[in-house]
Amino acid sequence: MRVLLVYYSRTGRTKDIALAIKSKLECDIVEIHDKANRKGFMGYVKSSLQTILGQQTELNIIDHNPKDYELVIIGTPIWVQNMSVPIRTYLYQFGNKMQEVAFFCTMGGSGFETTFRKMADLSTGNPKATLAITEESVKKRKYDDDVEAFVKEIDKVLNPEIEEVKG
Ligand SMILES: Cc1cc2nc3c(=O)[nH]c(=O)nc-3n(C[C@H](O)[C@H](O)[C@H](O)COP(=O)(O)O)c2cc1C
Repeated sequence: MRVLLVYYSRTGRTKDIALAIKSKLECDIVEIHDKANRKGFMGYVKSSLQTILGQQTELNIIDHNPKDYELVIIGTPIWVQNMSVPIRTYLYQFGNKMQEVAFFCTMGGSGFETTFRKMADLSTGNPKATLAITEESVKKRKYDDDVEAFVKEIDKVLNPEIEEVKG
């Protein structure tokens, strides 16, 4: 397998996009869980605070090593203009083991540019493709074209010779 897709999703929106990508691209897929209770209003407050303080969390055991993949796709919800705490923790643990990366996120509406920059800093420094989808688009299921374009960018990285022939 050449591609690993890793994502975290607190309320299911990032998961929807992860599954849409998986339906168009052959890849292994891992959903990250952490040990913190992030449910309800208190979970929202805790998640915001941990993000602002730059804290990490305790992750479930992940048995896929990103080192074994040509490219790792990482998906996160935006939390306080930043990546979610579980994804930050994942990148601290595994970011330096990745060969190539691509990022996607879901969000209320803002924070993806700085988030992708920070995710790049914690991994290879240079994502090959990025995709940001609003929660409104997820709800209305209006993301197919954007997901398609994202997967095409990744295909170009995996199969550069095909792109050369196309000219
Ligand atoms: C703690 C917390 C902070 C958030 N901060 C932002 C934000 O700064 N900007 C934004 O556009 N959306 C923000 N959101 C909204 C989420 O990014 C959005 O609802 C996302 O689609 C949730 O993804 P999920 O269902 O995969 O957890 C925040 C949500 C949470 C829980």
